[in-house]
Amino acid sequence: VLDIRQLYAQTDCFTYDPGFTSTASCDSNLTFIDGGEGVLLHRGYPIDQLAENSSFMEVAYLLLNGELPKKKEFDDFEYTISRHTMLHQQLATFYSGFRRDAHPMAVMCGVVGALSAFYHDSLDINDAEHRKISSHRLIAKMPTIAAMAYKYSIGQPFLYPDNNLSYTGNFLRMTFGVPAEEYVVDPVIERAMDRIFILHADHEQNASTSTVRLAGSSGANPFACVAAGIACLWGPAHGGANEAALNMLREIGTVDRIPEYIARAKDKNDPFRLMGFGHRVYKNYDPRAKVMQKTADEVLKKLGVTDPIFDVARELEQIAINDPYFVEKKLYPNVDFYSGIILSAIGFPTEMFTALFALARTVGWVAQWNEMISDPKQKIGRPRQLYTGPATRDYVGFDQR
Ligand code: ACO
Repeated sequence: VLDIRQLYAQTDCFTYDPGFTSTASCDSNLTFIDGGEGVLLHRGYPIDQLAENSSFMEVAYLLLNGELPKKKEFDDFEYTISRHTMLHQQLATFYSGFRRDAHPMAVMCGVVGALSAFYHDSLDINDAEHRKISSHRLIAKMPTIAAMAYKYSIGQPFLYPDNNLSYTGNFLRMTFGVPAEEYVVDPVIERAMDRIFILHADHEQNASTSTVRLAGSSGANPFACVAAGIACLWGPAHGGANEAALNMLREIGTVDRIPEYIARAKDKNDPFRLMGFGHRVYKNYDPRAKVMQKTADEVLKKLGVTDPIFDVARELEQIAINDPYFVEKKLYPNVDFYSGIILSAIGFPTEMFTALFALARTVGWVAQWNEMISDPKQKIGRPRQLYTGPATRDYVGFDQR
C-alpha cells in the first residue's frame, strides 16, 4: 500500500505555510509595509502625510494610477466618480428583499454582488477601458450602497446622491440627511471621515484583498470579486474588529475594570483577546492608529462629546503597551482601536462600522484587482495542501465496517 504522504517526496517542492505568514502571493507596487518599524507607504508616500494633506479621492487616484494627480487630472477624476454615484432604480428595490434588522454587511455583500447583474456593459476584464469603468462605478456607488443599507435599517427613505458635494460630504448627507430638510455638512466631521477613508484605503495582501485577488484570478468580474472581499472583511479578526473593539470598551466601561480584562487577555484558557490590539504584520505601533487617535480627539472636541470610553481606551492603551505580555508579543493598538470611538461619536451604529471600512477598502481592492489582471505573470490562484488523511485503502461494504 502506497502511503500518499510519500507522494509529496516525489512531486514538486512546495511550502507549508498556514495563514501565509511568510509567503508572497504576488508582486505589487501599490503599498509597502514595514511591520517592524510601523511604516505604511502608498506608492511611496507615508500614510501620515497622505492623511494630513490629501483627500480620499486623491489617494484613490494615486492607488489606481500610480502618481498623485495634477489639478486638472484630479478635477476630471472627481467629476467622473460623481457621474457614477447613482444606483440603478431596480437595485433600490432589491433592498426590500432583506429583513430590516439584517446586518449592513449582509446587505452590502448582496447588493455589490448584484451590481454585475446591472452593469453588463463593462464586464470584459481583458478590456482596460471596461476595467476602468467598473472600478469607477464601484468606488462611486459604494457610499450610495452603504448609506442606503443604513437608511433601510432605520426605516427612512433613501436619499439620492448630491453630486455638488464632495465624495465624503455626499456620503454623510445620504446617511444622516432626511428628505425636504437641508443637511449642512460639518467640515470637521467631513475631514475626519475622509481621513478614516484614507487610512482604510489599502493595506497590501490582507485577507480581504487576497480574497479579491484570488476570486479575480479565475477571471470573475470585479463586482463579484469585491462582494467576496466584503464577505471576508466582515470577520471579527479583520474588518469586524472596530465593532468588536468598541463593544469591548463599552463592556469594560470604567478605568478601574481594565486590569480584569488585561488579565483575561493574558489567560491562555480564556479565548478573550483585546480587540483593536495586535496585527499580523505590525510588530510596532500601527501608523494608522496614531492618526486615528488624533482624529478621535478632534472629533470629540468638536462635537462636545465626553465619552468615558475614550478615557478607558487611552488608559487601556497605556497599561497594555507597558505590560510585559504585550511588550514581549509586540501587541500594539491597530487602526481599529480608536476608529469605533470616532464613528460612534459621529452617529454611526456599530453595525455600520465594517460597512464603512468596506466602502474605503474598495479603492484598494479595485486597484489591486487591476494590477493583478494587467500583470502578464497572472495565473489562477491555486494553493496546495499538506494531506494528513488516510493512506490508500480498499473500499469495504457495510457488512465489513
Ligand atoms: N490580545 C491578547 N493576546 C493576543 C492578541 C490580542 N489582541 N493578539 C494576539 N495575541 C497573542 C496570541 O494569543 C498569541 O499568543 P501565543 O503566542 O502565546 O499563542 C500571540 O499573541 C500571537 O497571536 P496570533 O493570533 O498568532 O497572531 P496573528 O498574527 O495570527 O493575529 C490578529 C493577528 C488576528 C490581528 C490578532 O492580533 C487578533 O486577534 N487581534 C484582535 C483582533 C483585531 O484587532 N483585529 C484587527 C486587525 S487589523 C485589521 O484587520 C484592519
